[in-house]
Parts: sequence; C-alpha cells; structure tokens
Amino acid sequence: MFRFWLPVFLVYFAACFLQRVTSFPGGAPTDACQNLTPGHVNITANSSASPFTIMPASTTYQPGGTLRVQVMGASFRGILLQARDSTNQAVGFWSDFPDFTRSLTCNNSADSVTHQNTSVKVAGTNFTWNAPRTSPGDVAFVATIAQSREQYWLSITSDPVSGGNRASVHLGSAVFSLLSIILLTNSVVEG
Ligand SMILES: *[C@@H]1O[C@H](CO)[C@@H](O)[C@H](O)[C@H]1NC(C)=O
Ligand SMILES: *[C@@H]1O[C@H](CO)[C@@H](O)[C@H](O)[C@H]1NC(C)=O
Ligand SMILES: *[C@@H]1O[C@H](CO)[C@@H](O)[C@H](O)[C@H]1NC(C)=O
Ligand SMILES: *[C@@H]1O[C@H](CO)[C@@H](O)[C@H](O)[C@H]1NC(C)=O
Ligand SMILES: *[C@@H]1O[C@H](CO)[C@@H](O)[C@H](O)[C@H]1NC(C)=O
Repeated sequence: MFRFWLPVFLVYFAACFLQRVTSFPGGAPTDACQNLTPGHVNITANSSASPFTIMPASTTYQPGGTLRVQVMGASFRGILLQARDSTNQAVGFWSDFPDFTRSLTCNNSADSVTHQNTSVKVAGTNFTWNAPRTSPGDVAFVATIAQSREQYWLSITSDPVSGGNRASVHLGSAVFSLLSIILLTNSVVEG
C-alpha cells in the first residue's frame, strides 16, 4: 500500500516546490509545502538517474528517537527534505542543522529542512531527524535536490524506514485484551 501510492504523491509533492528550490537562493519558502500547482517553469528537472541517494542510518527508528539521514553521491546547493508517512504528511522534526542548511516549518515546527543559502553542501552531509513520540508507522525520506539552478532532481526517495505500526498496534492489543477477557469470562462461567 505504502509503496503503491507513494510515487504518485511524490510527483505532486516535488512539483510544488521544484521551482522554489532552484529559484530561491535562501531556501524554499513555506508556501512551497502546500502549493500543488506548479508555476510555469522553464527549467525542467533532470530526468536521468539521480546522482544522489538518501540514506537513513537504519532501516528502523524508535518513536521519540533520532535518526541520521545522509545525502550521498555528490555535493549540492539546494534541498528540501522531509520524512513522509503513509498518509503523505511530513512527520517528526529536524535538528542539528549542517552548514548552510536550516529548518523549514511546513505544517509543524521544523518538519522540513531546506538550504540556508547556495553555498556547497558536501557529499555525505548528515541530517538529524527526530521521530514523533507516537509512531506514524513506516516513513520514507523524500528530497528535491539542486546542484545548480539548472540541474535538480525530484522525488529522491529513501527506502522505507519502519518504526512500528501506527495506531493499529494499540488497537490490536486492545482487541486482544478484550478477547482475552471475554474468553476468560466464558471459561470461568462455563467452568
Ligand atoms: C521560457 O522558454 C520559452 C520557450 O523556450 C522562451 O521563449 C522564454 O524566453 C523562456 N523564459 C524565460 C524566463 O527563460
Ligand atoms: C542530467 O545530469 C547529468 C549528470 O548527472 C548530465 O550529464 C546531463 O547533461 C543532465 N541532463 C540535462 C538534460 O541537463
Ligand atoms: C499539511 O497539512 C494538510 C492538511 O492536513 C495536508 O493536506 C498536507 O498534506 C500537509 N502537508 C505536509 C507537507 O505534511
Ligand atoms: C552562506 O552563509 C554562511 C554563513 O552562515 C556564509 O559564510 C556564506 O558565505 C554564505 N554563502 C553564500 C553563497 O552567501
Ligand atoms: C556523516 O556521518 C557519518 C557517520 O557518523 C560520518 O562517517 C560522515 O563523515 C558524516 N558526513 C559528514 C559530511 O560529516
């Protein structure tokens, strides 16, 4: 399910700020988070294989914990990076910003990272993601990354990172508890 819908949303997600990343030397503005209507852009994304990969330090995260997320492959100048859950919301928050990057608040404080200015960010730059205390389930890290105004790549997506099931964990254990009580009650009554 997650893998199925994700690419569809990513295209919209990326389209909404592709122009901003390349056209805003001070970082993507907040309206880039929400505006799904691409402006008339003359510069199109490079559709060849991305030189970048987004590498989470682990395939799992702990709710309330931190996870290092590394941009591998090449140096870059512009970025907009988020963790997205299966409902396509930006989740968690970012901290410990590397050189020339800063937080961007889309829906929630520091739920995104963008560039502070166009100075070169080295290949292998590490970002620090703070997972929500209540697990949003699987997340994937998604970024649009620009090497220059003309050269940028959309929808660069990490492998999914799991952090437990969403509320179904709690629902599941609640149902299990209820069933146990019913079975126990029955056995007491019948016994
Ligand atoms: C956008 O592209 C069109 C067609 O190639 C060109 O005529 C126009 O000058 C371009 N606009 C800018 C702002 O580069
Ligand atoms: C896309 O990027 C590659 C380098 O990764 C470059 O060789 C190629 O010319 C770019 N394509 C366009 C259309 O700019
Ligand atoms: C922000 O919240 C709105 C309303 O819930 C939602 O539609 C949108 O996808 C959210 N955007 C992000 C980046 O999480
Ligand atoms: C980016 O900001 C840093 C200070 O945070 C500054 O040293 C650097 O010169 C700036 N780069 C550009 C291209 O303005
Ligand atoms: C990112 O973190 C890894 C692991 O700690 C480290 O090996 C690497 O040098 C860091 N990258 C940069 C650009 O500092």
